[in-house]
Amino acid sequence: MQDLIQDGSHVFIFLDAKRNWIRKVIAGEEFHSNRGKIKFDDLIGRPYGIKVESHSGVIFQIHRPNPTDIQIAMGRNTQIVYPKDAGTILIEAGIGAGARVVESGTGSGALTSILSRAVGPTGHVYTYEVREDMYTGAKKNLEKYGLTENVTMYNQDILEGIKETDIDAVVLDLATPWELTDEAHRVLRPSHSLASYSPTIEQTMKTCKALGENGKWGMIKTLEILEREIMVRENKTRPTTWMVAHTGYITFARTMVVDRE
Ligand SMILES: C[S@@+](CC[C@H](N)C(=O)[O-])C[C@H]1O[C@@H](n2cnc3c(N)ncnc32)[C@H](O)[C@@H]1O
Repeated sequence: MQDLIQDGSHVFIFLDAKRNWIRKVIAGEEFHSNRGKIKFDDLIGRPYGIKVESHSGVIFQIHRPNPTDIQIAMGRNTQIVYPKDAGTILIEAGIGAGARVVESGTGSGALTSILSRAVGPTGHVYTYEVREDMYTGAKKNLEKYGLTENVTMYNQDILEGIKETDIDAVVLDLATPWELTDEAHRVLRPSHSLASYSPTIEQTMKTCKALGENGKWGMIKTLEILEREIMVRENKTRPTTWMVAHTGYITFARTMVVDRE
């Protein structure tokens, strides 16, 4: 069945890799850019994947925003978890439709947006952010892209304790994840995953040490994901000159059942 753009839908308006926008379609209103205007009424009732011409004759592609488009478009005040790392977190931690996930810190909400899309309407993301300015910024970001229905946001230090239990995955991107391993274990279901993202090797080593100390965790491993874009041109196909050389290390571990906890 074809999915049509509606009043209130979000669309990804694409000109090229640098000039693209995510906008909410509002009947009677227009999208404005320095390459011309598009009337939202001209999109409503039409499928995603169309080309439209602006009033100044420039052709734009209209797509459904995917999680990467949203993540890249979001305003950010922090280092965000990049799509290559977020994708690995989802797969390695088994995060899919219906999962209940605890995340901290929320930061700019970039990873929250990916988690929200991954767990879908039957799942839920509980995200903890200690800084009020970050909490407010992330809330605005998530509201802008219509991603709040399955997300509960707390402006709270996660070290004070996690409110939820029977959680399917805990995802950490904060400075001291090793302080949270016991609390993550307490709220996770048996044989479910912690994913901890850290930019430095020293943080990663402390996290792995904490995970290995008391027999509460199994299958501990750390990954670094390298991504290289290939520029495809007639007789000149090769990797692009620049790449993101470093983002972070992701440590995964699964909860073990421990007697006399
Ligand atoms: C690198 S940012 C997270 C970015 C986020 N993953 C994203 O993709 O947008 C780290 C965030 O963790 C928050 N934070 C640090 N310690 C925290 C704690 N104990 N409880 C809750 N949030 C914390 C910081 O305020 C900061 O906003």
